[in-house]
Amino acid sequence: MKFFLTTAIDYVNGRPHLGHAYEKVLADAIARHQRSMGAEVFFLTGVDEHGQKVEQSARAAGVPPQSFCDEMTVHFQEAWRRLGVAYDGFARTTNAAHKAHVQEALRKLYDQGDLIFKEHEGFYSVRQEQFVTEKDMVDGKWPEIYGEVVQMREPNYFFRLEKYREAWVAELSRRKDWIVPEFRHKELQRALERPLEDLCISRPRSRLEWGIPLPFDERFVTYVWFDALLNYTSFGAGRWPADVQVIGKDILVPAHGVYWPLMLSALGWPLPRRLLVHGWWQLEGRKMSKSTGTAVDPLALAEVYGADAFRYYLLREMSIGQDADFSVEGFVRRYNSDLGNDLGNLVNRSVSMVRRYLGGVVPEGPVDGAWDAAAEQAHSEYLAAMENFETHRALEAVWKFIRLANKFVEEQAPWKLAKDEKRREELTRVLRCLVLAVLRISVLIEAFMPETAQKMRNQLGVCEKVNLACWERLRVAGQVGEPSPLFPRVEAGSGSSI
Ligand code: ME8
Ligand code: MG
Repeated sequence: MKFFLTTAIDYVNGRPHLGHAYEKVLADAIARHQRSMGAEVFFLTGVDEHGQKVEQSARAAGVPPQSFCDEMTVHFQEAWRRLGVAYDGFARTTNAAHKAHVQEALRKLYDQGDLIFKEHEGFYSVRQEQFVTEKDMVDGKWPEIYGEVVQMREPNYFFRLEKYREAWVAELSRRKDWIVPEFRHKELQRALERPLEDLCISRPRSRLEWGIPLPFDERFVTYVWFDALLNYTSFGAGRWPADVQVIGKDILVPAHGVYWPLMLSALGWPLPRRLLVHGWWQLEGRKMSKSTGTAVDPLALAEVYGADAFRYYLLREMSIGQDADFSVEGFVRRYNSDLGNDLGNLVNRSVSMVRRYLGGVVPEGPVDGAWDAAAEQAHSEYLAAMENFETHRALEAVWKFIRLANKFVEEQAPWKLAKDEKRREELTRVLRCLVLAVLRISVLIEAFMPETAQKMRNQLGVCEKVNLACWERLRVAGQVGEPSPLFPRVEAGSGSSI
């Protein structure tokens, strides 16, 4: 079984922020989940290097655009390394093979008459790098997201979107589950109801140098979207179509819901199987972005609390598709209660009791039937949630099980059983149940918190490779390792710089 997933490629006009980090961590969790299920995964992420914004940022920094991109790309790669984002392919749009791929696609569209050359006059948003129309105004003003809007007249190449619209509308109505979450399906259908204007796909080089030259007219370079979207097929060559493409809600309409499927149709290439559209992280109700200076450094929290705690917070706090509000207090609350009290405590007390009461060894033997049923329920709820990429629901199911396990400890009170020699067998069975629960939890959290899962297995003394594919065969017996707190309390104030 093969599984190919992609993320949006980030603009390198600034450093990665929390929104970028969330998307890559989300995709990484899906990739790890698939690997754990036994799939052969190809996880593609990367950076979007061309365009006016990057050119401007490079100019402001006083360096050539390529050196600016090279330096910025390292920040992205370094951030993903530190957050445990284990991608298999990294797309850079300045890569020579990618440029050739884009030029080939342009040539094909040009030869079949899908690109036309014409003069265009209109309003242009510098920040969004696109022409806008008066329809985009709100109360007679350009919304803040457009930044500066200028009037402009120039000749350009245009892609005839309308030619392919109706076929796509028909196809989309057959693919009701093409977009997760489902409510975005209607949003896209609405955007496709009326005829589409031709899409401007070029910029004159006199105005923008930093792009891929058109193969049939060297006076022009490609427009950012055309270049960026094709990263999926150039870096995914031989693997396309993607099983799922992870993107934020701002780039569904029109980029991934209109331009991309219509480009693919025109090129005669298959459409991606599904799109996962996530919401925005907000800071006090406003979208976080580099352009407005409201960005959170994703590494600062991970530095203090560990990458896994940060990943847990993001994937647990955001209901897939919705927006979520980021707060340091909310993060610290989850760290102390879900991670420290619930999970950390369960692992620590389980391993410590095996050492204290059983001399550190769990003998082979049976586990409780009722207890097995609880584990099976957590497992099936987890799987059902991950089918639709609902990480918050998957984690909720696992935490229900963790809390049940802690309750089980309180009810069974192994410290009382240990006082009675005659209840030795009962004590052994209770601790065996617990240790097996911890092993199973390590498998269920692995996609979200890979380092923690490994630490848990080290403490349990489990050396063999375990994953979701061998769920039915998970057993524990033998010598446990050293207990050590997974989520030590962090002193108040150490995160104050965030
Ligand atoms: O759009 N919360 O790049 P980008 C959640 N280069 N997600 C967020 C976010 C936030 N506050 N801010 C941004 C681009 N994102 C193009 C994509 S793909 C062929 C080209 C998400 O750096 C955003 O929704 O502006 C997008 O999916 C990704 O970060 C990159 O955004
Ligand atoms: Mg953006």
